[in-house]
Amino acid sequence: MKIEPKIMRGVCLTSHPEGCEKEVLNQIDYVKAQGPVEMPKRVLVVGCSTGFGLASRITASFAGGAETLGISFEKGPSAKRPASPGWYNNRAFDKAAAAAGIKSHTIDGDAFSDGVKDEAAAWIKENWGQVDLIVYSLASPVRVDPDTGETYRSVLKPIGKPFTAQSVDFMTGSISDVTIEPAAQEEIAPTVKVMGGEDWARWISRYKEAGILAEGVRTVSYSYIGPEVTYPVYREGTIGQAKEDLENSASTLNEMLKDLSGQAFVSVNKALVTRASSVIPVVPLYMALLFRIMKEKGIHEGCIEQMYRLFSDRLVPGKDVPVDEKGRIRIDDWEMREDVQSAVSELWDKVTTENLSDLSDIEGFREDFLKLHGFNVDGVDYDKEVDLSAE
Ligand SMILES: NC(=O)c1ccc[n+]([C@@H]2O[C@H](COP(=O)([O-])OP(=O)(O)OC[C@H]3O[C@@H](n4cnc5c(N)ncnc54)[C@H](O)[C@@H]3O)[C@@H](O)[C@H]2O)c1
Repeated sequence: MKIEPKIMRGVCLTSHPEGCEKEVLNQIDYVKAQGPVEMPKRVLVVGCSTGFGLASRITASFAGGAETLGISFEKGPSAKRPASPGWYNNRAFDKAAAAAGIKSHTIDGDAFSDGVKDEAAAWIKENWGQVDLIVYSLASPVRVDPDTGETYRSVLKPIGKPFTAQSVDFMTGSISDVTIEPAAQEEIAPTVKVMGGEDWARWISRYKEAGILAEGVRTVSYSYIGPEVTYPVYREGTIGQAKEDLENSASTLNEMLKDLSGQAFVSVNKALVTRASSVIPVVPLYMALLFRIMKEKGIHEGCIEQMYRLFSDRLVPGKDVPVDEKGRIRIDDWEMREDVQSAVSELWDKVTTENLSDLSDIEGFREDFLKLHGFNVDGVDYDKEVDLSAE
């Protein structure tokens, strides 16, 4: 069959195997061209298949020469449906790593479960003995608590009062006001349960107990702050509560890791098109304006550029890590620059459906979104039939 993008409400239901592979190879080429990075050599990436996790893994192996163990939750192909993009990305990563003689192993399963944590621990014991760096990059709408078996769901909602703002349907380019009703009190805690720091801490404490954290181990997780226009739905909304919890848990983890001379960090990253971020109301319009301004200023970055900068410039082994007053790494520094934010906010007040293409980089947003799923990638013949059973 020919595979085409099938997009419904900001979610793409198909993906292209060859396009996904090419995109992984493009990211590998990028980090190789930038040059080697000093990195720990035994790296676990939780949430390795797409977005920031994949970019971290690629940087670790192809710029840092690190062996990696990756964990993600992806769907394989069936006779009629392609796999999820992350499934193809993992396969492409493992293939490229093997070809380069770099050890990699990928576990497909629920990272929130103790079973997957223990499976990964067993692999680490057998293959490395200990792990030097744990990247925690999960984005998920649901988590089953391993202690109680209860299922928690996260929501992306404001807290306290409804939030009305302009939002774009990025495939049609139509802008309209959307109102998001506030979260019910009983929706806030589950969002923190899914996207907060509890599971990150569970990985670290379990691995400490198992004796598989190396002396000087580091762990990093990713957060977002963003501009005031998105505060009600992001930083001051349910997801913001979860991010605050994640950020606070870094200090708990720092205590836990003290006797190993280990450290835990949260890196605040830039807004980027990923499968997780494109479904957040209001955020895609902000990103389309942001990308235009950052491209004009020559400071635009994608996931791979961000992660290369994180590991080459901030989280460097043996060096003090520069952090803000709350102890966070700020790789969103260029996004949050005063000149960038004031230019975006000027456009925010002017943008309409009619002038969207002139004022914003909505085209760039769309391209990035399609590329995440292996579409719109240079050098791929999309008219070619793909035999899914052979994939
Ligand atoms: N995209 C942005 O603009 C942005 C900005 C700053 C920070 N962040 C943060 O970066 C982190 C990663 O987000 P992303 O945007 O790269 O998301 P993404 O959707 O591209 O990646 C999420 C990863 O989590 C994995 N995953 C989800 N549920 C899982 C489960 N139960 N078990 C195992 N793996 C599971 C997926 O397989 C995938 O590898 C999140 O904490 C997010 O909040 C994102």
